[in-house]
Amino acid sequence: MNLKKPLNALLAAVLGTGLLMSGAANAQKYPDKPITLVVPFAAGGPTDTIARLIAVPMGKSLGQTVVVENVAGAGGTIASAKVAKSKPDGYTIYIHHMGMATAQALYDKLPYDPMKDFEYIGQVADVPMVLLGRKNLPPNNFKELEAYIKTNKDKVTMANAGPGAVSQLCGLIFQSRLGVRVTTIPYKGTGPALTDLLGGQVDILCDQTTQTIQYIKENRVKVYGVTTPKRLSAIPNVPTLDEQGLKGFDVKVWHGVYAPLGTPKPVLDKINAALKKALADPEVKARLDTSNIDIVPVAKQNGESLKTHLDAEINRWGPIIRKANIPD
Ligand code: MLT
Repeated sequence: MNLKKPLNALLAAVLGTGLLMSGAANAQKYPDKPITLVVPFAAGGPTDTIARLIAVPMGKSLGQTVVVENVAGAGGTIASAKVAKSKPDGYTIYIHHMGMATAQALYDKLPYDPMKDFEYIGQVADVPMVLLGRKNLPPNNFKELEAYIKTNKDKVTMANAGPGAVSQLCGLIFQSRLGVRVTTIPYKGTGPALTDLLGGQVDILCDQTTQTIQYIKENRVKVYGVTTPKRLSAIPNVPTLDEQGLKGFDVKVWHGVYAPLGTPKPVLDKINAALKKALADPEVKARLDTSNIDIVPVAKQNGESLKTHLDAEINRWGPIIRKANIPD
C-alpha cells in the first residue's frame, strides 16, 4: 500500500489548519503596530486632506497610529499598483477616489485590476468640483472664459493631477464639450497645482472643493462654475456648468477605502468599524461641511457597497471617457 499520498494530505491539512489558526491569532492581535494609509496623490491636496482627517479618529479607535503615506504619480495608478502588491495583513490600507474606476478606460494596460486585486472596506464621501482660473485671468464669467479659450487655445494652460485624476477627467470633459484642446500641465496632485494657480503660473484648473472654497471666498481665484447639477450652499452665487450651457455636466468625486486582496475578514471588519466611527466624528463632519463635502450614508460605508459602486462606475465612465476622446 502506498502511504505517501495520505501522509502528504494529512501534512497539508495540519499545515493549513496551523496557518488558519495563526491567521486568526494575528487578526485577534490586530493592530499591534502603526497602520499605513496610502494616498495616491501629493500632500496638501483633496485626497490627502480627507485621508489625514479620518486617519486620526481611525487611529484612536484602532489603538494604533494611522500614518498617511503619499505615493503620488501617474494619476494615482502607481499607488494602486503598489497597494495591490502589498502584504495583505491590514497594515497597508488605501484611500482613493473615483480614479479607481476611470483609470481602466484611460490606460491601455494597468498593472492591477480594480475589481480583483483589492478588498473593499467602505465608501467615504462625495466631493463636488469647481472650475477655477488664476486671479488675473481676463475672463470674468463662464461665457467670457469660453470665448477666451476659443481665441487663445494655443496659449491657455490647464493644470491637472495626471491621467486618472479627477482634475484631468473634469478638464477633458470640459474641453471636449467646448470642442477645444488647451495645453495640459500635469502635477502629482491638485495640492501643488492649486499652489501654482494661486501663484499665477497656470491659467485654469478643475479641482475639488476641499481646499478651493476657501480661496473662492477670499477672492484669490476666479471661479467659473460648479460641476454638480445643483449649486453649492457654501458658494450659492456660483452657477453650475450645466446651467451655463454645458447641459448634463455632472462630476462629483466619490472616495473609498481598500486593502490588498487577501486581508483577513476579521481585520477588514476592524478597519471598517474604525472608518464608520471616523465618519460619525463631529469634527470630521464639521470640516467636510465647510467644503460642501457629503459623508456617505452609513448604508454605503461598507465593502459590498463600495465594490458594487466601483463596478457601476467603471461601466458608467468607460463610454463617456472613450467618447470624449480622453486621454491626453
Ligand atoms: C485629482 O485631481 O484627482 C485630485 O484632486 C488629486 C489630489 O488629491 O491631489
